[in-house]
Amino acid sequence: MAMYMDYRSSADADGTICAEDVISAEGSKLLSKGTVLNQYYIYRLLKFNIKKIWVLKEINKGYDNSEKAAEDILNSATSIIESILKGGGVPDEFKDMLFNIMYYSDPDNFASIVSYVNQIVGNDSYTYDHSLSVAWLSVKIGSLYGFEKERLKDLMQVGLLHDIGKSCVPSNVLNKPDKLSLYEYELVKRHPLLGYHALKPIVSDEIAEAVLYHHEKLNGTGYPFGITEEKIPIFAQIICVADVFEALVAKRPYKSKISPFAALKILRNMALANEVSYKIYDIFETNIMNSYIGTPHPDMPDNIVIGYDREKIEPIYLMDVNSSEEVHQH
Ligand SMILES: [Fe+2]
Repeated sequence: MAMYMDYRSSADADGTICAEDVISAEGSKLLSKGTVLNQYYIYRLLKFNIKKIWVLKEINKGYDNSEKAAEDILNSATSIIESILKGGGVPDEFKDMLFNIMYYSDPDNFASIVSYVNQIVGNDSYTYDHSLSVAWLSVKIGSLYGFEKERLKDLMQVGLLHDIGKSCVPSNVLNKPDKLSLYEYELVKRHPLLGYHALKPIVSDEIAEAVLYHHEKLNGTGYPFGITEEKIPIFAQIICVADVFEALVAKRPYKSKISPFAALKILRNMALANEVSYKIYDIFETNIMNSYIGTPHPDMPDNIVIGYDREKIEPIYLMDVNSSEEVHQH
């Protein structure tokens, strides 16, 4: 089974088989598909600053059936979600997990989906990291929304693949620190359509359409079509909330990251303007705020969060930081 692996931190990289050709940033082939890794090849990859490659690897034996895989999405989510909320993305040790789950979610199309994800990684690692985070956040929102496990696995696929069309957009445009030209912006705006056409032959209509509509806004100000309200499928509405939030809290070459609370305030304004679903925003916000209860103040480890102010979207600490007076609980 093809897996994306950091060969540098894997003790058993020696003897592993490359699943794809490994190409340098300059375009020359470093290793061919089927090559058995040895210390010489590993040295060569390091020299070209290639940190991860696709290898043939056993699927995690812990996932012996689809039900177990779906269960794992929910059970493993807490620490992963916490890292994403802080702008740290999916921790490295969990990055392969979705592929294991996806294998049981859609075994017939697994190889095609992996090769599409491979294209994202090859073009732009930020988009790949973003897609992993959006997949986890979307599943979290979907579970709060009340979806069954089977639908959560589909939603996970949408999260992972929603920006697949960006692999057709040059990475220097995607990560341009300056304002995009009109032409460049039009190019970026084509990615939902490109992704839809790439995926339509291999995934369900529901998954493909969620990819197509993930930048549409309820009030009709989105793209590519400017459709409104009920015409936008629920999967696309969930992905949109996860997408906006993750893009705000994560650091990118063209912007610094902001706090989850500041990101929630922006999201609330978007919900009030009927750009994103208020219902989805609401369950997401409540859950995020709850996840902060019991966590220490960043500068005062003895001071913990005991609640939150929904109006201000701010945590309430045991001791009021400004007055240094204790907040009494009854
Ligand atoms: Fe997108």
